Amino acid sequence: MNTSAIHSSPVIGPSTPPPWVDARTPLGRLIAGVLAVEPVRQLLFLQARRMMIRTAEGRGIPWRQRREQLRQQAEPWLASSTEAAVVVPPYYRARFHAYAEGNLCWEAACEAEQATDSVALRVWKEEKQLSPEAAQQRMREGIYAAIEPSLSAPVRDVLDIGCSVGVGTLALADWLEQHGHSDARVSGLDLSPQMLAVARVRDAGGRIKAWHHGAAEATGLPAASLDLITAQFLCHELPGDASRAVLREAARLLRPGGVLALVDQDPEAAVIRAMPPALATLLKATEPYLEDYFRLDLPAALADAGFTAIRRVASDHRHRVLVATRA
Ligand SMILES: C[S@@+](CC[C@H](N)C(=O)[O-])C[C@H]1O[C@@H](n2cnc3c(N)ncnc32)[C@H](O)[C@@H]1O
Repeated sequence: MNTSAIHSSPVIGPSTPPPWVDARTPLGRLIAGVLAVEPVRQLLFLQARRMMIRTAEGRGIPWRQRREQLRQQAEPWLASSTEAAVVVPPYYRARFHAYAEGNLCWEAACEAEQATDSVALRVWKEEKQLSPEAAQQRMREGIYAAIEPSLSAPVRDVLDIGCSVGVGTLALADWLEQHGHSDARVSGLDLSPQMLAVARVRDAGGRIKAWHHGAAEATGLPAASLDLITAQFLCHELPGDASRAVLREAARLLRPGGVLALVDQDPEAAVIRAMPPALATLLKATEPYLEDYFRLDLPAALADAGFTAIRRVASDHRHRVLVATRA
């Protein structure tokens, strides 16, 4: 990977939200008004969705074919991926990414792998020959290279929270094995049983120790039982209070000296800050908590939750990793 793209700095303060983030601006109000008209909203999202699938398929992601294949294979895993006692927080039932049932449906679960490959391709969109697999690998290597300096001892117990269908969980397990942590036992946790069912299908070799159904802010897992927790692209899907609760739960789960890594969109990234406001505001309409994410002072929230040695690393030119150590 291109390590020159990585900038690491100790964290000193909050980021400024990108200029388009404010729903109270005239443009924000106008777009909210347009999207409040249900048939208009549906038409716009349908067109956007068609375009997204066409673009992905044009770049070698077999979006629709893979969706059908995963659905067929994952359905039998649903019951064993569902923990009846799990309490689903109300914010989680919001419409996400234009799926009416958010992450709690087959369509979202069976399109998540394709969507994350599209995200990776978009990072290097000028490289037209880059395959989805190579883009995904490059994006993940950037993330784990950012975490590595904070790992002072071999990691044994690892949890990937908000693991979705396990793309990052499996990539992390591979990376740990190849970088001197071959005893690491990696588990994933997510609130969506459909996502977990797909994760199990993708983990056909049983590489992952456990796929837990649960809320990242109330996992029910034992205290001080983990060396590393990753939250890859989770925080932008959480209201601010839920993010804070997740950090507190992570602090409870980690052993002293354990590491938490939060990967997500980089509020400082030039490409994100320069997005055309109308497009960015429309995209934001499919992400109910994106504004919360950009407004939250995550470094301060990490410190409040008991983390120290907080570093910010731009893992590529769209994403940053906040790496912190449990005091
Ligand atoms: C964008 S996806 C994460 C992608 C994945 N980690 C990766 O690296 O490709 C966000 C995931 O977080 C999960 N999620 C959202 N809120 C959660 C919560 N409170 N507890 C556990 N999982 C949650 C969603 O179900 C979804 O699968």
